[in-house]
Amino acid sequence: VVKKFKKIKDSELMETVEEVFDYRTLMALYKLINKGIIERVHGVVAAGKEARVYWGEDREGRDLAIKIFLVQTREFRRGMLKYIEGDPRFSLIKRDRRYMVNTWCSKEFKNLSVAYKVGVKVPKPIAFKENVLVMEFIDCGEKGKPAPLIKDVPPSDPIRAFYRILENIKIAFRRGRIVHADLSEYNIMNRNEEFYIIDWGSAVSLDHPEALNFLRRDLRNLINYFRGLGLRDLSYEEVEEYVIG
Ligand SMILES: Nc1ncnc2c1ncn2[C@@H]1O[C@H](COP(=O)(O)OP(=O)(O)O)[C@@H](O)[C@H]1O
Ligand SMILES: [Mg+2]
Repeated sequence: VVKKFKKIKDSELMETVEEVFDYRTLMALYKLINKGIIERVHGVVAAGKEARVYWGEDREGRDLAIKIFLVQTREFRRGMLKYIEGDPRFSLIKRDRRYMVNTWCSKEFKNLSVAYKVGVKVPKPIAFKENVLVMEFIDCGEKGKPAPLIKDVPPSDPIRAFYRILENIKIAFRRGRIVHADLSEYNIMNRNEEFYIIDWGSAVSLDHPEALNFLRRDLRNLINYFRGLGLRDLSYEEVEEYVIG
């Protein structure tokens, strides 16, 4: 194990992933590399509080998006670590956090797979290991550069875009029996006027008691955003009726 770790430390992978990740995360990445799923990891394309997304490549040079969920947020590291490090309860906190983050990652992978299978426009899921999720990279037409979110680059034809996205929500709901539950202009990418719904970690199946409420909230977010783009007479009731039937 020590040898393996040294190998990771010496690899160019380390230059990219810096000191942000713990040992298990590095091992998970290492395993995905050994399995031939990831060939190389380039720079970070997005760094949020809960996850970082990297641009990578597979053996054939196809671009990958590698989403790594953070086991310890940086604030947590910097601020609280010194108070709990010597505390025997710390290992428990750490284990719980690791469990949560891994569960979240596998949930996102599962939801993404369901959505992809039924034909929702999402990045193609490729693999996951622990807190590392690998999927198709959605670029803006330039290699390694992510397509913008619609919050930054709004659709040029809002009516068409609205119905495209709505159709996807409907497909997810009817055929995939899932609800995204965190839908907004922050989680929809605009690749050359094709719209990809990302960030499926919060999605729930229709068995979830709150599923319909989540769906209504998703639709409300979408409607509010598109009203802002000029679609003033979107009726909430009609939209809900169209999706739920
Ligand atoms: N498949 C992908 N291809 C390219 N970029 C992506 C992909 N998935 C996510 N990103 C980039 O990473 C950002 C964060 O991803 P997201 O899944 O929304 O995570 P978060 O939980 O941090 O919101 C996105 O806004 C986008 O810029
Ligand atoms: Mg997001």
